[in-house]
Amino acid sequence: MRVGFIGTGEIAAAMVEGLSGRGHDLIVSERNTLMATELAGRFSDVQIAANTEVVAGSDIVFLCLMADVARDVLGTLPWRGDQAVISVMVDVPLAELATLCAPASDIALTIPLSAVATGRSVLPCHPDSDALRALFGESDAIIAVPTEAGLNAHFAASALSAPLLDLMQTGARWLAAQTGDAEGAETYVAGVFAGFLRQMSVQGADFGQLLDGLATEGGLNATMKQQMADAGAPDALRAGLDGLKPRLKL
Ligand SMILES: NC(=O)c1ccc[n+]([C@@H]2O[C@H](COP(=O)([O-])OP(=O)(O)OC[C@H]3O[C@@H](n4cnc5c(N)ncnc54)[C@H](OP(=O)(O)O)[C@@H]3O)[C@@H](O)[C@H]2O)c1
Repeated sequence: MRVGFIGTGEIAAAMVEGLSGRGHDLIVSERNTLMATELAGRFSDVQIAANTEVVAGSDIVFLCLMADVARDVLGTLPWRGDQAVISVMVDVPLAELATLCAPASDIALTIPLSAVATGRSVLPCHPDSDALRALFGESDAIIAVPTEAGLNAHFAASALSAPLLDLMQTGARWLAAQTGDAEGAETYVAGVFAGFLRQMSVQGADFGQLLDGLATEGGLNATMKQQMADAGAPDALRAGLDGLKPRLKL
């Protein structure tokens, strides 16, 4: 496949890394120059081209721009009816993309995160996309979401990433302050959570079962969980997610 990327920023780079070496011709747009040059230097199957050439030379085009830039740029590009377009952009609905990328009509939304670079990540999409499955179906989990609103709710849930990683980093720093071993502290905290997540995929355990296993009365975990609840942490998380609803039209 010839796979193009319009907007060579953080998330495009992660997808390029994930796709490189799998027999595709990857074409990234010139901006940003530093990232495009770095990718073309690292991966022999990556070429750099102007936006127009990326679209003209691709079977599948990923849209990886900020929304305001997308509105300025996409309508000027030479879209074709026989190519697939996959947007990773928040804030640009399918109906608008259909206008901006006409006559292309095979258009889907998905939500990659940086782990797409290493595979076994999860890619919600709407509508279901043969193009996305052809590229990432073997390496990553594709979840077809039946509605655009549902996909947008997944965008909100993807924003759990930074607060939860921030909490883990806070915990690791606290541990490092006790032990004097910052690297060991990160390895331990990451390993604890990697272990739980592996348990979920191997044993089919759900969050409730894992929490039940940590609920020993008077235990350290139960004590911490209650303290965090008393401080309003779960309420703050729910309020944060609810606060994203107007932007995501939910
Ligand atoms: N980062 C994530 O984890 C993530 C996850 C899911 C979805 N997304 C979505 O992906 C999109 C991009 O996010 P990002 O984090 O990758 O942002 P980013 O790193 O800022 O990448 C956007 C890139 O677009 C480039 N650009 C600006 N004007 C352009 C033009 N006229 N033609 C071609 N490229 C142009 C920018 O280049 P310059 O630096 O030269 O301006 C920049 O490198 C956003 O809509 C975001 O919602 C991101």
